[in-house]
Amino acid sequence: MSDSFDVIVIGAGPGGYVCAIRCAQLGLKTACVEKRDTLGGTCLNVGCIPSKALLSASEKYEAANHHFSGMGIDTKGVSLNLANMMKFKDNVVGANTKGIEFLFKKNKVEWLKGGGKVSKAGEVEVAGKKYAAKHIIIATGSDVVSLPGITIDEKQIVSSTGALVLNKVPKTMVVIGGGVIGLELGSVWQRLGSKVTVVEYLDRILPGMDGEVAKEAQKILAKQGLEFKLGMKVTSAVSDSKGVTLRVEPASGGKGETLSADVVLVAVGRKAHTDGLGLKEAGITTDERGRVAVDHHFQTNVKGVYAIGDVIAGPMLAHKAEEEGIILAEMLAGQSGHIDYNLVPGVVYTHPEIAAIGKTEEQLKQEGVEYKAGKFPFSANGRARAMGATDGFVKILAHAKTDRVLGVHIVGPEAGTLIAEAAIVMEFGGSSEDIFRTCHAHPTLEEVTKEAALAVHGRAIHS
Ligand code: NAI
Repeated sequence: MSDSFDVIVIGAGPGGYVCAIRCAQLGLKTACVEKRDTLGGTCLNVGCIPSKALLSASEKYEAANHHFSGMGIDTKGVSLNLANMMKFKDNVVGANTKGIEFLFKKNKVEWLKGGGKVSKAGEVEVAGKKYAAKHIIIATGSDVVSLPGITIDEKQIVSSTGALVLNKVPKTMVVIGGGVIGLELGSVWQRLGSKVTVVEYLDRILPGMDGEVAKEAQKILAKQGLEFKLGMKVTSAVSDSKGVTLRVEPASGGKGETLSADVVLVAVGRKAHTDGLGLKEAGITTDERGRVAVDHHFQTNVKGVYAIGDVIAGPMLAHKAEEEGIILAEMLAGQSGHIDYNLVPGVVYTHPEIAAIGKTEEQLKQEGVEYKAGKFPFSANGRARAMGATDGFVKILAHAKTDRVLGVHIVGPEAGTLIAEAAIVMEFGGSSEDIFRTCHAHPTLEEVTKEAALAVHGRAIHS
């Protein structure tokens, strides 16, 4: 095994492994350090992929139990085999993580097994051995956070990791945090039979997303059975053999209440994962939130040491990390690159999905930008009706004078797929007229986007 590389990437999540593969494609001798037994980081092992496997499976179970009969399919005796559903999820994870191992071999990226530490500029230590690298890239991702006084045991009080491996359906579940993880994993267990209560500190769910979309999403999810307690904070959670007892108080002060649950999911955000990296000793600075501080070229204050993904500022999203990894690899190979952080889409994989790109209506108001809004409901779309999926809408925000699309917000069937059209239009600086003058196939859900673009100009056909 060689001890000297052009690039050593620390961390094999979507940021790190993609960056390593791109570096290798560009002819750089590359190694990637990973301490897990499998590649792919949080996303593939205990995040995006397993949660999507459980979301897909539980959605089908829910549909078989509650929606098939409305389409003329009688399903007597549908039952849950949780162990097999977990096996299905594990197989999905296994196929994905092994896929990355194959890609590393194919591209000649060397996997250095163990925890990586930056000993100094140009040198990384892995499992007691030192390796030289012209460029070091920190891509160590993020870790769960808890609340003061609440200890995650991954059995009764779980993080997203524990919520993916429960071996029986809890009768009751309290989810702390009405963000992305809370809604996705709360939905999974609610569909499988838990009575789920979401306790959110703010007076709304999904902070950062468009307010109208968040409101609609809450309405739909409440109809499905999720209970919301907004403007409430959990001040303690104590577990014993009977379950977990939580103390919940209004965020603005006042009388609180006691809740009990079989399982509590803590989903109040994540923090940069920098443990054991040796940042202090190597003189690498962090920002006020403990994230690795980088310049516009992802370089830290130490020359030749870079960082990408969740461990630096910006949205903690796999695709943001991937983009940064590609751009950095290309810059190291002498090319140039750019990422427009305003055009990083966000998707919540509830049913229906929620997706967004660009500015929210609240942001445009705050920035004093003149805009026009066009909204169109899925209930007026033939394909959505035929799918039995009529909840939600597409909302397009366009500049009042130039018509340039500034934001697109969707709650509705396949929102995560539909948002790609908006991303491309916005990447090209397109207008809402560009969307509605483009021929959209009929009957498709995409026609809702076209109608929303027409609605910006007050000329939707089907409403
Ligand atoms: P989040 O930031 O999305 O949501 C956390 C929620 O917890 C917020 O609504 C916050 O107001 C609330 N909260 C904070 N303290 C609280 C308290 N004491 N009591 C009650 N509520 C409290 O974080 P989340 O859901 O943990 O996700 C972590 C990260 O992972 C996010 O950056 C998210 O974008 C990412 N992620 C993305 C996914 C996707 O793209 N589909 C899926 C899962 C995670």
